[in-house]
Amino acid sequence: RLTLKLAAEALLRANDRQGCTVPAPALYPHQWNWDSAFCAIGWAYIDPRRAARELEMLLRGQWENGMIPHILFNPEATHYEPNPKVWQIDQAPGRPQAIATSSITQPPVLATAARFVLERSGGDRTVEEILRRVVVAADAWHAWFLRERDPLQQGLPAIVHPWESGLDNAPRWDAALARIDPGEVTYTRKDNAVVSSEQRPTRFDYDRYFFLVAERAKLSFAPPTPSRVSFLVQDLAIASILCRAEEDLHALARALGLEVPHALERRAKLAAGIASLYDTTRGYYHDHDLVGDAPITVEHASGFLPLFAGVVPLETVPRLVARLKDPNKFGTAWPVPSAPADDPQFDPRRYWRGPSWINVNWMIIEGLRRASWRDDAAKLTDRTLDLVSRSGFREYFEPNTGEGLGAENFSWTAALVLDLLA
Ligand code: DGY
Repeated sequence: RLTLKLAAEALLRANDRQGCTVPAPALYPHQWNWDSAFCAIGWAYIDPRRAARELEMLLRGQWENGMIPHILFNPEATHYEPNPKVWQIDQAPGRPQAIATSSITQPPVLATAARFVLERSGGDRTVEEILRRVVVAADAWHAWFLRERDPLQQGLPAIVHPWESGLDNAPRWDAALARIDPGEVTYTRKDNAVVSSEQRPTRFDYDRYFFLVAERAKLSFAPPTPSRVSFLVQDLAIASILCRAEEDLHALARALGLEVPHALERRAKLAAGIASLYDTTRGYYHDHDLVGDAPITVEHASGFLPLFAGVVPLETVPRLVARLKDPNKFGTAWPVPSAPADDPQFDPRRYWRGPSWINVNWMIIEGLRRASWRDDAAKLTDRTLDLVSRSGFREYFEPNTGEGLGAENFSWTAALVLDLLA
């Protein structure tokens, strides 16, 4: 385990690009939003100031409306598509002037990571100074989710692109994507030159990913409504991560002597929204398709994230844990598979359609601990550390055999291992 710790630290240092950590140099050479937040959690064990700097670097990309985008581009890296031009943000109102970004967001882990860093910074004034700025930025971003992305005002933020979910090609988006006819879209892919195409999203997905990028620009990046956009789903994972982030933002602000008067109010709205997504008959939480106006009953590992938000009623926890441990669902040899093993769409080697991911495990472990399900949290922690010891700091893992898949030298795998070891 000491070797694992040293190797994780060395990986973060090697992926450091002057204050931001690239998720994986060969595949993802820019700054990604939730990747940076997870990386800061690892950096907190090495150097809290460096951890705070990682989060501060994200603020460079914030739009005037509060949105923090999913990618902040490094102009020197040219081996990733879509490149900055494809996003067409030149005419976007309120975009940042000093840096090119994407036009969409990603799950808001920022405030949770910031609280984590503060708690491990031993009263360092420089860290506190930086985190004060993070509080203000995160507060504006959180408010944006419920102001511009909750068209029905149900406490359920909606995403306009599968990339916003962070769990890009999850089977739960299939039906909503199938409704889109992208026509002839021309684009370049570079991911398949780095990672075998059987482990990446398909052409069906990419046609629609590029179509939706262009649609944002065509609609002048305006707040979406179900009748105007091609894809709009209330994403359970974002609602859960945001709900948790509101609690962390509130605690962080208090610790720094600041006020965020609306964080707990927003948290309550999100908690009510998440509760409305629980299906008592099936026994799990789901997403909701706003364009199709129907629940999305396809299950996914994201269904456990209400535990991370701490909003699962006591009597519901055992039902969720049973699914987590069921070998036909999420209890595979190397858990937690992103999709249940008995789902017809389960594909154990393809990105978010089956492989196990360390950030999802980390959030589920944290959720189990909060629900006082300590033995299962400890078992999942051990299994996760064994998986990485065996297969390396890979992007994701085959959930039956434990084989490492996707990018090598993946930063959040290393960063979260540092916390799981602590
Ligand atoms: C990718 O390129 O696969 C990323 O997940 C998009 O954010």
